[in-house]
Amino acid sequence: MAKVYVFDHPLIQHKLAFIRDVKTGTKEFRELVDEVATLMAFEITRDMPLKEVEIETPVSKAKVKVLSGKKLGIIPILRAGIGMVDGILNLIPAAKVGHVGLYRDPETLKPVEYYVKLPSDLAERECIVVDPMLATGGSAIEAITSIKKRGAVNIKFMCLIAAPEGVELLKEAHPDVDIYIAGLDEKLNDHGYIVPGLGDAGDRLFGTK
Ligand code: URA
Repeated sequence: MAKVYVFDHPLIQHKLAFIRDVKTGTKEFRELVDEVATLMAFEITRDMPLKEVEIETPVSKAKVKVLSGKKLGIIPILRAGIGMVDGILNLIPAAKVGHVGLYRDPETLKPVEYYVKLPSDLAERECIVVDPMLATGGSAIEAITSIKKRGAVNIKFMCLIAAPEGVELLKEAHPDVDIYIAGLDEKLNDHGYIVPGLGDAGDRLFGTK
């Protein structure tokens, strides 16, 4: 069964408070999302495997640990997911970045894929699917289904804010995908917005309305 991690690190919580604040403008919002994504990437990579190598310090030989070369793929869901990519790349600059674009069909209200471009060796990578908001869960479920179809097997999902409804549906649809959240909120409102949430993540990141 999928595990759900809610990061209670004080720095993440502090920055998330300003991200939520309606008075926070686009520039600051973007910078804060970037910073929180970096802090979350630090936590999410805690289980990355290490290997021992020998080096020489100015004083003596030493056995030290380095990452054992596991490859990462960051997969933002367009468009708001893009806002979290650079923050992760700050820590893992060698990661490859794929994109999944989805829109909501106005009649069925179901997410429909319109763009997919992924690293070719997806099966060998640990994939982190990112979207700031896990609301109904529809986009996350569809994006993860889409990358599984193309070979991804080792997948984590990372978001800033989640609604309990979305977490439950995502866990049910993809029990093999652990979920990493900065803030687990109360509920969804009738318009599909997370309450209290932060509003429309894409609009706040890109300054649109
Ligand atoms: N997407 C957003 O950007 N905000 C929400 O509250 C829900 C979905």
